[in-house]
Amino acid sequence: MNSNLQIKVGSLIFKNPVLLASGTSGFGKEISKFYPLEILGGFVTKSITLKPKRGNPPPRIWETPCGLLNSIGLENPGLEKFLEEEMPFLEKINTNIFVSIAGESVKEYIELAKNLKDLKISGIELNISCPNVDKGGIYFGLDTDITYELTKSVVKISQKPVWVKLSPETERILILINLLKNAGAEAVVVFNTFLGLAIDWRIRKPIFKRIFAGLSGPSIKPLVLRYIWEIYEKGFLPIVGCGGIMEFGDVMEYILAGASLVEIGTANFINPNIGKEIVLELENYFREEKIQDLIGLAHKRKEDFS
Ligand SMILES: Cc1cc2nc3c(=O)[nH]c(=O)nc-3n(C[C@H](O)[C@H](O)[C@H](O)COP(=O)(O)O)c2cc1C
Repeated sequence: MNSNLQIKVGSLIFKNPVLLASGTSGFGKEISKFYPLEILGGFVTKSITLKPKRGNPPPRIWETPCGLLNSIGLENPGLEKFLEEEMPFLEKINTNIFVSIAGESVKEYIELAKNLKDLKISGIELNISCPNVDKGGIYFGLDTDITYELTKSVVKISQKPVWVKLSPETERILILINLLKNAGAEAVVVFNTFLGLAIDWRIRKPIFKRIFAGLSGPSIKPLVLRYIWEIYEKGFLPIVGCGGIMEFGDVMEYILAGASLVEIGTANFINPNIGKEIVLELENYFREEKIQDLIGLAHKRKEDFS
């Protein structure tokens, strides 16, 4: 381990700033066939719900020239099966494991948090930003009051570090993040997917049954970076940057803009080794410097333009 990459975020220590994003590496078993997950600073599970969810009908994935559209609809085995079949594997991994939870009501999130309370996990990531379901998901994230109450309740009941994963569609993001700090969140994850649309012009109809789907990948990186920059300037909460990270240089951009940690999503589908490869490149790059010293550094360079 290279201690120059070590970073404290909230109450947790991360051996390096690289995590895998929710829903893009399942519950870790498949990706661990490529490399041991201990290499990573952390791992976020696919979002789980109280009851199993079958997700949306196909098609669920659509490639565009600049990113991926998905409409998975939170397919997952539900809490009981997760605890039985996935937790024994996850609790053996020596890195920060976050369980992502999603619900259709505040009650459901609280119930999930209660059941995760005694597990050997580092924290909970609140998914209030899934664009592909009718209830819960993004509809929570758009409501500042509900998001605040929900976060406060989950922090209280779980007594674990709680991160809140925001939607780019959320209005008044800066006000919301300040509220989340007061609600006891330890970090904000910026972002879940953007809403996008694809149309099959040959048959003259939308690709997805739900019309809109979640856009991820390279096209969203500059948009997310812009928000990371703005959020960092306010300094309310540590930022976990997520969106379009495809290579080492993208991680550097996120760090310089103000992200303390990053999550890699879509890139895992293209190269399952990407998490490991980026960690190794960071280790090489940070042999001399400390990662802590570079977080948000680009803000200090603004005067170069004046
Ligand atoms: C196929 C797929 C499934 C996803 N499932 C989830 C999920 O279950 N929970 C969640 O919070 N985010 C989910 N996401 C969003 C990602 O975690 C991430 O926020 C988003 O894709 C942006 O990052 P990226 O551009 O690196 O992929 C999913 C994304 C994709 C592409």
